[in-house]
Amino acid sequence: MPRNNPFRPTFGASPKVWAGRTTVLDEFTTALESGPGHPNRSLIISGSRGIGKTVLLTELEDKARATGWVVIRASGREGMAETLTNSTIPELIESLEPAPKRKFTGFNVAGLGGVRSELVDEQPVAPRLVTRLHQLLTLLKGTGVLFTIDEIQDSNPADLTEIAVAYQDLVRDDAEVALAMAGLTQGVNNLLNLPGATFLRRARHYELGPLTIDDATATLRDTAQEAGKPFLNDAARRAGELTQGYPYLVQLIGYLAWNHAVGDAITGRDVSSISEEAIEILGKQVHQPSLRAVPPRQREYLDAMAHIQSQTGRAQVSTADLTTALDRPTTALSDTRGKLIDRDLIVPAGWGEVEFAQPYLGDYLRREQRPTRVN
Ligand SMILES: Nc1ncnc2c1ncn2[C@@H]1O[C@H](COP(=O)(O)OP(=O)(O)OP(=O)(O)O)[C@@H](O)[C@H]1O
Ligand SMILES: [Mg+2]
Repeated sequence: MPRNNPFRPTFGASPKVWAGRTTVLDEFTTALESGPGHPNRSLIISGSRGIGKTVLLTELEDKARATGWVVIRASGREGMAETLTNSTIPELIESLEPAPKRKFTGFNVAGLGGVRSELVDEQPVAPRLVTRLHQLLTLLKGTGVLFTIDEIQDSNPADLTEIAVAYQDLVRDDAEVALAMAGLTQGVNNLLNLPGATFLRRARHYELGPLTIDDATATLRDTAQEAGKPFLNDAARRAGELTQGYPYLVQLIGYLAWNHAVGDAITGRDVSSISEEAIEILGKQVHQPSLRAVPPRQREYLDAMAHIQSQTGRAQVSTADLTTALDRPTTALSDTRGKLIDRDLIVPAGWGEVEFAQPYLGDYLRREQRPTRVN
């Protein structure tokens, strides 16, 4: 019988075997158990693309559900407060209590053609988020509610403030609530620096880094093993090293190696055979979209970094070398550098050095620079 590939190289798709991140999960579980007002009940997760923010939020949601909590999910990409107030929470209220007082106002085609009823209150004024939440919590009679917000870097600060005010109001009332948010590193840092963001600054902040190679290797090994086609000898380790601890690559490399292996096990040769393809797919899925809107000056800076990397053989590139290579004034370069950090493409790496925020981005850029061979 053919065995199904257990790896999931898809953004937002939870892995079969979880790697690392135990601190976040453990602290959150403790916070849930510790009753209202525990400081770790509001948390914010930041990190680069594909580092595992969305699946970690999902895992936190699962933990909350497992203890009987209700989960309400929002995305920074939509008008969050509005969506919560006028559809997400009313829908939940409706599922809890199909109220006789409610009237249908007609239909409203939501998303992929679903049909949704609109909640009509007897009150003439549009309810605010905080009112809605109080309605909901009254109905829930002590059941906890976890709010999760993904892609928070794209959220409108006014929206976020409305949510913050409503949430704090519930906390003051000793309600069983928690709030978990996730977003790209620099976007989150920018939000944290806004004047009205005291609320966010008080949240427990986790910056997700790469997994250890040991954790990546163990996940590769266990995922394949459990699904019936194990890695042979040191093949899992080789695959683990190739991932550079980057979660998306754990899934992608595992997936490709599994498909490449024709026999009952995955060999080191399978891993070597798919490494180029893995890096190419990573380029298409992650690097190419994140480079699309980069203006020429910033692109030059990235290309110079890639070039210097290949000459020195080090991941870190010194800004002094960049100044020499690009022959532009230092102030102009530090401006470009700042913009690239804001785009989550590079990160500062110690004194006067920068490095790429994504694995294999340098390889991708060098490959792009090579002339195309024509027969
Ligand atoms: N801890 C983990 N263990 C194993 N695999 C993981 C882990 N975290 C993430 N992954 C895998 O990595 C991939 C990317 O995860 P996810 O979509 O959560 O990234 P993200 O940080 O939300 O990315 P983006 O910034 O683009 O939204 C998925 O295929 C997921 O299964
Ligand atoms: Mg995500």
